[in-house]
Amino acid sequence: MSKNTFYQDFEITLAKREQKNGHKAVLIWYTGLSGSGKSTLANAVETNLFSKGINTYTLDGDNIRKGINKNLGFSREDRIENLRRISEIAKLLLETGLVVNAAFISPLASDREMVRSIVGADRFIEVYVSTPLEECERRDVKGLYKKARANEILNFTGISAAYEPPVDADLKINTADQTIDCCVEKILNYLETKIR
Ligand code: ADX
Repeated sequence: MSKNTFYQDFEITLAKREQKNGHKAVLIWYTGLSGSGKSTLANAVETNLFSKGINTYTLDGDNIRKGINKNLGFSREDRIENLRRISEIAKLLLETGLVVNAAFISPLASDREMVRSIVGADRFIEVYVSTPLEECERRDVKGLYKKARANEILNFTGISAAYEPPVDADLKINTADQTIDCCVEKILNYLETKIR
C-alpha cells in the first residue's frame, strides 16, 4: 500500500444515498457448495427486491471469474485473492447504497471473516446455503462433480478441497428440503429487519 495516498471525502455520502433510496445498503453473502442453490436464491431475492423498488446488484462466482478475476484459479491463494477483490467490489457497491447479493463458495471460515472485515460487520449478512453434498452432486447442473470424481478437476470444493460450514450464519437455508419460494421468503423477512 502506498504511504503517499490520502483518503478523499466526497460531498455525497452513503447516508445521503440511503436516505434518497429509502433503504439501507447491506451485503447478503451466500456461501455453500457448488450447486447448492446460491445463485438461484440470489436471483430470486434480487428479483423480488427489484420489484419493490429496492436498488440491488448481484455478484456471482462464475460471472466474476470470466471477467475481473479471469486470471485466478482454485488454489488456496487464488481463492483468497478472488474473494478479496470481490469484497472490495462489494464494498464499493455498498457505498453506492445498493443491497448487494453475492454468491460465492467462500469455503473457509477465514474467507468469510475476510469479507466481513473488509465490508464491515454491520452491513454483512451471512446466508449459509446448507444443501448437502449428496444433493449438490445429484443435481450436478454443470457436470463438474462428475469431472471432479474422475480427477479431471482438482481442488474441487466438497470432493478434493475443504468446505467449512459456518457455525454462526445469520440464516441457514437448505434448498433440498423446502421450495425456493419458501427459502426466498425467509431471506426477505430477515432482510426487512436490516434495511429499514
Ligand atoms: S470460491 O471458492 O473462490 O469462492 P467461486 O464461488 O468464485 O469459488 O467459484 C465457484 C464456481 O467455479 C463453481 O460454482 C463452479 O462452477 C466453478 N468451479 C470450477 N472449478 C472449481 C473448483 N475446483 N472448486 C469449486 N468450484 C469450481
